[in-house]
Amino acid sequence: MARNKIALVGAGQIGGTLAHLIGLKELGDVVLFDIADGIPQGKSLDLAESSPVEGFDAAMSGTQTYEGIAGADVVIVTAGVPRKPGMSRDDLLGINLKVMESVGKGIAAHAPDAFVICITNPLDAMVWALQKFSGLPAHKVVGMAGVLDSSRFRYFLAEEFGVSVEDVTAFVLGGHGDTMVPLARYSTVAGIPLPDLVKMGWTTQDKLDRIIQRTRDGGAEIVGLLKTGSAFYAPASSAIAMAESYLKDKKRVLPCAAHLSGQYGLTDMYVGVPIVIGAGGVEKVIEIDLQGEEKAGFDKSVGSVTGLMDACKAIKPELA
Ligand code: APR
Repeated sequence: MARNKIALVGAGQIGGTLAHLIGLKELGDVVLFDIADGIPQGKSLDLAESSPVEGFDAAMSGTQTYEGIAGADVVIVTAGVPRKPGMSRDDLLGINLKVMESVGKGIAAHAPDAFVICITNPLDAMVWALQKFSGLPAHKVVGMAGVLDSSRFRYFLAEEFGVSVEDVTAFVLGGHGDTMVPLARYSTVAGIPLPDLVKMGWTTQDKLDRIIQRTRDGGAEIVGLLKTGSAFYAPASSAIAMAESYLKDKKRVLPCAAHLSGQYGLTDMYVGVPIVIGAGGVEKVIEIDLQGEEKAGFDKSVGSVTGLMDACKAIKPELA
């Protein structure tokens, strides 16, 4: 059986890390695409030269034309400009919307059967625009945010409780931004929900609130430290979990920016919700019960994503 082909549109920090992980996990052959001359070619050659040492068989190539991504099974999009210190994800909107238009058209022309994962920020608005520009079915286009936000939440919780990250599950829903909604009630240590752990005295509500805020600010914390770019290791790992679930039909339940058509009372928008990813793409959108503050937080987050979509529509009226 032929190997899977995975196209990475954007060969920057995240794109290079994605290629490395795909090689190490032998998920398929990689094509790195970028407008920057020499970058996709140089990174793919460097990665290919690591393969004999690492012991993986995967073709790595670089291209600057969309023909190179032809027939890809999965396309992961990181093309665009990352956040700089002091810049919000929303500041990126105008620049990255234009990038989504060219990427969407390139995917439509050369890889229309692919499962597409978008990482470019501001995520929920960009994946929505990418789906429209590409014309691909909505269940084949998803955004990576919730896996990353939940992973950050899990890491901070594991640190607080002094337990393995493997035994912490967490759910972060809503838009990928300052209004994201980490859900304590649906987050657990070995199945014990966080509110119960507070009652048991293992942590305090105050500490939990601080962890939730740190999760919301997780992207900005890394930007503040790096100063010249944004996070790339954890975002790449998160997108790979989604790609792997599709390619291996694992049917993992992952929080992702997914297209909604009535679920949660919303239509024609992308926002972070739990979904099942399998060989059919987004096979199910799971509607969980949100109560009180959770519902208010989710509604607020939806409002901020809608604002970004409106800003996109003002720039590109054909998206309306
Ligand atoms: N087509 C293809 N590639 C493009 C285009 C385009 N129209 N415009 C920019 N690029 C490329 C850049 O040349 C660069 O190599 O996208 C790459 C982005 O890489 P980095 O700047 O290193 O950014 P990275 O850290 O990988 O983040 C990528 O993810 O977190 C989000 O908002 C962030 O949009 C950013 C994206």
